[in-house]
Amino acid sequence: MVDLNILESELSARIAAAADGAALEALRVEALGKTGSISGLLKTLGAMSPDERREQGPLINGLRDRIQAAITVRKASLDAAALDQKLSAERLDLTLPAPPRRKGSVHPTMQVMDEMIAIFADMGFSVAEGPDIEDDFHNFTALNFPPKHPARDMHDTFFFQPDETGERKLLRTHTSPVQVRVMQQTNEAPPASWISAAQKPPIRVIVPGRTYRIDSDATHTPMFHQMEGLVIDKAIHMGHLKWTLETFIARFFEVEGVSSRFRPHHFPFTEPSAEMDIGCDRSGGELKIGQGADWLEILGCGMVHPNVLTACGIDPDEYQGFAFGMGVDRLAMLKYGIPDLRDMFASDTRWLSHYGFSAFAAPNQASGLS
Ligand code: DAH
Repeated sequence: MVDLNILESELSARIAAAADGAALEALRVEALGKTGSISGLLKTLGAMSPDERREQGPLINGLRDRIQAAITVRKASLDAAALDQKLSAERLDLTLPAPPRRKGSVHPTMQVMDEMIAIFADMGFSVAEGPDIEDDFHNFTALNFPPKHPARDMHDTFFFQPDETGERKLLRTHTSPVQVRVMQQTNEAPPASWISAAQKPPIRVIVPGRTYRIDSDATHTPMFHQMEGLVIDKAIHMGHLKWTLETFIARFFEVEGVSSRFRPHHFPFTEPSAEMDIGCDRSGGELKIGQGADWLEILGCGMVHPNVLTACGIDPDEYQGFAFGMGVDRLAMLKYGIPDLRDMFASDTRWLSHYGFSAFAAPNQASGLS
């Protein structure tokens, strides 16, 4: 019969002397594991007489509990000592340079939209938005497009399959349908929370957004960006249009004076309609915008057609106004010297890190636009 007292003092001494977690674990297995010395003693209880078991049971179980507790206590103190040692040995050098991180950048189109918004907001315009998926009424009919106009053709416009009612939705070909959405005096809530609500005149809005046409070459991509402008009030005339656009161009290109000319043109939704050219200088192989012997076509504009006002529930005998529309990507290319439109949407990160802008340099008129 093993002497429990001797076994206990021997195990206790070895537990106290265990040098690390591994030695302690080996000791635990030796005493309390399946074939351990104390487990072996516990197994002998089954073969004892009831009297003997009543005497030996508490002794052996007590021994097991005390050894178990001693191991737990020793383990805690070994763990604490190991942690202390690790903390005093390891040093974190906070002065080391951080590993480089790839930074995103603001796409030139988005930068230019923000610049345009900053300039027009300063003139009292607010920003309106509408859906990319439009219906025929907003994109064409309300804008006075005749039924057989070529823009309504499958060759120019991305149409969806007709729905159950036979209606064909389309990808908007310009931002002009948002003019209609802003002017319509419907008293209806717009179908989505981000779509601008209809409002009564006076109206002064710009509409930045994506537009789509079936067109693809060095100067056209199937998706591109436009910015529309709309001003409606009682006594708006072409002089306001001219000042607004000339002021915008001078601020946008950060030049003093801008020469401009308005060439008669045709848009179904304006009368008269014009294309605005701005003076530029191409001599010396570099394009200088503002003044010079050459002209650069920059946007379309005109006085809102009375049919459009009527279609939107505004009385053309009481109100009139002007509208304009321009290509945002083209303005970005002109301002920042980007040679090919297709690169703008190729998502090449090398191109983006070259032409992109810092997200922390949001354009504003006080601290500079670019
Ligand atoms: N929607 C025209 C286009 O995409 C641009 C335009 C021209 C808009 C004249 C206007 C405007 O508001 O008055 O080519």
